[in-house]
Amino acid sequence: MTEDVYSVGEAILAEKRRLHRATDQKPNINAGPDDSKRLPRLTAVECPNCGAEAGRDGLGRIYCLECRHRKVHAEFLEAIVRKRLSRAGLDVGPLARLTLGSFDRTDARHWRAFDTIVTWLEGWPYSDGASVLLWSSSYGAGKTHLARATQRALVERGATVCFMQVADLLEVIRASYEDGAEQSEHAILWKAQRVDLLILDDLGKEYVADRSRQWFHNLIFRIVDRRYREGAPTFVTSNVAPTEFEALLGGATASRLAEMVGERQVDMTGADWRLR
Ligand SMILES: Nc1ncnc2c1ncn2[C@@H]1O[C@H](COP(=O)(O)OP(=O)(O)OP(=O)(O)O)[C@@H](O)[C@H]1O
Ligand SMILES: [Mg+2]
Ligand SMILES: [Zn+2]
Repeated sequence: MTEDVYSVGEAILAEKRRLHRATDQKPNINAGPDDSKRLPRLTAVECPNCGAEAGRDGLGRIYCLECRHRKVHAEFLEAIVRKRLSRAGLDVGPLARLTLGSFDRTDARHWRAFDTIVTWLEGWPYSDGASVLLWSSSYGAGKTHLARATQRALVERGATVCFMQVADLLEVIRASYEDGAEQSEHAILWKAQRVDLLILDDLGKEYVADRSRQWFHNLIFRIVDRRYREGAPTFVTSNVAPTEFEALLGGATASRLAEMVGERQVDMTGADWRLR
């Protein structure tokens, strides 16, 4: 919204307030036959900042005369956050419940992983590639839950996050080789390389035939190396132990990942939460 609109809005509000004082009646700040086409529709609200009577537009922006400037208030921010979550598809369905708040931490491994993520989030944004690895030899350990919760926390802050299950990523890339494919391999890789946070979920669950091993190593190298060089963080979940990463990914990628992850790797092996 431009300053123009604000100043018109402000002028109208001032007028309504003057009338309000004069008549001691609740002003209807939507009224005004001449202004209805030029003005944002304002609803009377109490300014969350100073408590004065203010106007709120359709986007939740609050125009307060007492504060003398257009305040971006909690309600507006909430509207933005809701929109971001909705665009990322995190607001409805099963993904909506995968939050940090819904993650139980009574178990020590869960606490360690949770603490690692929260500390990592406190350090956001990174430019040194500080990455996180959650792994477990057992299933249902809570890795994906935390990965989704991390995605949500960053999406709320306006960061670009790409969540990719590695098996899906390979499928999409293989499809890009077909004639008339919708997306090129370049476009898919570009996204994986450039987003603020890349989440590679289920590394090691992908199927790669022996003859495609080199291809896979090269693909994952191009993604990880790019992020490594640009100091962009990556979040990995896996059922494969980090000691196996060299065999799984190739030495060059495993070495870069190990440096990016540093201390931020948690073994979450334990009882399957799905079977509780
Ligand atoms: N600490 C926890 N608090 C709340 N829910 C949890 C917790 N740990 C796991 N869950 C729930 O258990 C289910 C399985 O967890 P999740 O998918 O995160 O496991 P995973 O480690 O990714 O498993 P897999 O190796 O099979 O991919 C999910 O529904 C998740 O929300
Ligand atoms: Mg998982
Ligand atoms: Zn105010």
